[in-house]
Amino acid sequence: MSANREQFSSRLGFILAAAGSAVGIGNLVGFPVSAAKNGGGAFLIIYALFVAFICLPVMIAEMALGRKAQKDPYGAYHSLTGGDKKWSFAGALAVLTPFMIAVFYMVITVWIFGYLVQTFIGNLDQLANPDNFGVFINEYTVFGYMAGVVVLVNLILVGGVKEGIEKAAKLMMPALFVLLIGLVAYVLTLDNAMAGVRYYLVPDFSKMDASVLNGALSQAFFSLSLGMGILITYASYISKKEDIVGSSKMVAVTDSLVAFIAGLMVLPAIFSFNPNVNPEELSDSSVSMIFVYLPQLLLTLQADIGYVGASVVAGIFFLLVFFAAITSLVSIIEVPTASLMEAKGYTRKKSLTVLAVTTGILTVLCTMSFGMVEGLTKFTQYGGGVDKSFFDIISDVFYDTILPFNGLLLCLFVTYRWRKANLSEELTQGNEGYKGSFMEKYVNFSLSTFIPVILLLIFVNTVATKYFAISLFGF
Ligand code: PHE
Repeated sequence: MSANREQFSSRLGFILAAAGSAVGIGNLVGFPVSAAKNGGGAFLIIYALFVAFICLPVMIAEMALGRKAQKDPYGAYHSLTGGDKKWSFAGALAVLTPFMIAVFYMVITVWIFGYLVQTFIGNLDQLANPDNFGVFINEYTVFGYMAGVVVLVNLILVGGVKEGIEKAAKLMMPALFVLLIGLVAYVLTLDNAMAGVRYYLVPDFSKMDASVLNGALSQAFFSLSLGMGILITYASYISKKEDIVGSSKMVAVTDSLVAFIAGLMVLPAIFSFNPNVNPEELSDSSVSMIFVYLPQLLLTLQADIGYVGASVVAGIFFLLVFFAAITSLVSIIEVPTASLMEAKGYTRKKSLTVLAVTTGILTVLCTMSFGMVEGLTKFTQYGGGVDKSFFDIISDVFYDTILPFNGLLLCLFVTYRWRKANLSEELTQGNEGYKGSFMEKYVNFSLSTFIPVILLLIFVNTVATKYFAISLFGF
C-alpha cells in the first residue's frame, strides 16, 4: 500500500467527484426522454427501485474494493488475490473498458463543446438547421474542438486528485446544479409546460415489458458509472474513516435527482415547442436529441425573448451538458491513468501523455467514422448484416456488452473470491453500525445471488441480439 497515495481532501470532495462522474450526458437528455416514452411515473418508480436494490450494492462493492486495495482496478484485483491470473483478467478488463468508453464519450463531448462555442459566437440559427449536425461532424474544425477538450481534460487531470479532479468537481457540480435549476424555472413558465410535466410524471404501467425493464436497468447501471472501474479508482483515494455506504447513497441520490430534475426541463420544453408531440415518436438517441431536435426547439424561443435571449438559454443548456460531460470524462480517464502510474511506475504527466496520444488516435478514427472515411464508416457488419462504423463497434462492445459483464465479475469476485466477511470488514470501517445491519445482510445476499444472475441475463441477451440478431427472451 503506497503511503503517499493522494487522497481527496474531504468527504464532500469525494462525493462531488463521484457524483460528477455519474452525472453525465445520459442524465440530462437520455433519461428524461426514455422515462417519458416508457411509462412516465411508472418508469421513474422502476428506475428508482433498480438504483436502490441492484445498483447501490454494486456501487458499494466497487468502492469497498478500491478503498481496501488502495489501487487502480487492475492493481486491486491483482493485489487482493496475490496475483491470481484468472482475476487479473477481470482487472485488465476493468481498465480496458474505461479506456475504450473514454474514446466513445470523448467524441460526443467534442461535439458538445463545438455546439457550445457555436452558440456563444451567435450561430444558434445555423445549429437549428436539421442538416447542420451531419455537416458539422464531418468538418475538419471538429479536430480543433477535440484539441480544446483534450487540453482541458489534461489540465484538470495533471493537477491530480485534490488539485485537479476534486477542484474541478467542486466548481462544476454546483454550477451545473444552478444552471439546471435556472433552466427548469424558466422552462416551466413556457406555454404548455404543464402538459410535459404531466406526461413525465403520470404513471402508465401498461408500457412495462421485459425490454423496458432491461433498458431501465442498463441505463441506471451506466448512469451510476458502474462497471467502469471509476468508483474503484476514486475510492482508492479516500481514507478508512469515510463511510462508504453513506457516500454511495449520496452519489446515487444525487445522480438520480439530477436525472429526475432534467426531466422537468426537457419534457416541458418539448411540449411547449410542440403541444401535439407524441413523445413515443421522439428519438431514442441522446445524440439526435441534443444536436438536432433541441437546437430547433431552442431557436423558437426567439419569438418570446429575441435571438440573443434564445442564444443565452441555448448557451446555458450546452454549458450544463458540457460540465456534466467533462466531469465524467475526467473520471473515466483517471482509471487508465492510475493504472499506468501503478503498473509501469510512470509519473502522472507521462501517463496522461501516453493516454492523450492513444485515446487521441482512436478518437480521431471514431470521429472520421461518420462519413469522412468510408472504410471507417462501414467498418464491418454484424447483427444480421447491419453496417457498423468504428464508433459503433466501440459503443456496442464496451458500452453495451462489457459493462454488465464487468459488473458480473465484480459481484462474483467480491463475494466469492475476496469474500463477504472481508467486504463487511471494509464497510464497517467508517460505519460502526454496518456489521449486523439489514444493509449488510442485503448487500451480501444480493451481490452473491440475484444481482449477478440479472447481470448475466443482460449480458447474454445483449450478445445474442447485438451480434447474432437472435431474440432470446423475447426482448
Ligand atoms: N454516468 C455517465 C453518464 O451518464 C456515464 C459515464 C461516466 C460515461 C464516465 C463516461 C464516463 O453519462
